[in-house]
Amino acid sequence: MSGARDEETAGTAIGADRDERSGGVGPHGGTAGAASSDPGDRGPELAAIWAEARDRVIGSEGTMPWHVPEDMALFKRETTGFPVVMGRATWESFPERFRPLPHRTNIVLSRGAPEEGEERGGAWWFRSLDAALELAARSPGGTERIWIIGGASLYERVLDAVGLPAVRGGRLSRVLLTRLDAAVPGDRRAPALGEEWSARPVGSGVDERARLAGDDGALTPHPVPYRFLDVRRGR
Ligand SMILES: NC(=O)c1ccc[n+]([C@@H]2O[C@H](COP(=O)([O-])OP(=O)(O)OC[C@H]3O[C@@H](n4cnc5c(N)ncnc54)[C@H](OP(=O)(O)O)[C@@H]3O)[C@@H](O)[C@H]2O)c1
Repeated sequence: MSGARDEETAGTAIGADRDERSGGVGPHGGTAGAASSDPGDRGPELAAIWAEARDRVIGSEGTMPWHVPEDMALFKRETTGFPVVMGRATWESFPERFRPLPHRTNIVLSRGAPEEGEERGGAWWFRSLDAALELAARSPGGTERIWIIGGASLYERVLDAVGLPAVRGGRLSRVLLTRLDAAVPGDRRAPALGEEWSARPVGSGVDERARLAGDDGALTPHPVPYRFLDVRRGR
């Protein structure tokens, strides 16, 4: 079982209708609107990215109960060049040879980190989300977009948070969601997105190279239908 979106084997094929750069998926992508005179409209977009199987399962026993190269390619393409913020368990789910995630400022949250933050193992460690976002906004790519990359506790923490520092509108405004049409065992779930969120399909297919975990956790080959959804706050 792979603990992370194992980028080495991700390949390059992704949804054909996606922009090549800057996370711009269709007309919502890019920084349009950032020039408003309303201070709340300034700053980087705060976006989350996750892949969920049926019943919103995103993890099992500290790892991801699947290997879906099409989704890994999406994750790599979208997050490269931008800061990524994650919880300690997600950091630890990456095999050591894959961390820090390259070409991204890696920021890890842990209550054990010092107040002022510290650099350790190629990542920046902070104990508060606010401090993590402040650093992210000053990191390469961070004036445009900051990605929340998991896990479940961090998605839950940011989903409905308001008044977050340094980010546009003070809150999470976007989720780039991969829906896997597969039933897998899991002990971590993504938060439910309420009616204030609008999803737009931006890609779909069947990943013939996918592998899924069974009840024993072992991965076995299994083609997986997937959909990429660009989900925005607002209707
Ligand atoms: N499917 C996907 O797209 C996806 C993406 C990412 C992760 N995952 C999966 O999700 C699972 C991990 O999720 P998880 O919820 O168990 O763990 P997590 O959110 O990755 O990490 C939890 C830890 O992060 C720290 N933390 C989180 N929020 C914090 C905050 N606001 N302030 C300070 N510290 C904070 C705490 O560390 P301390 O205990 O050190 O204080 C906490 O115990 C794994 O199975 C992983 O494979 C799936």
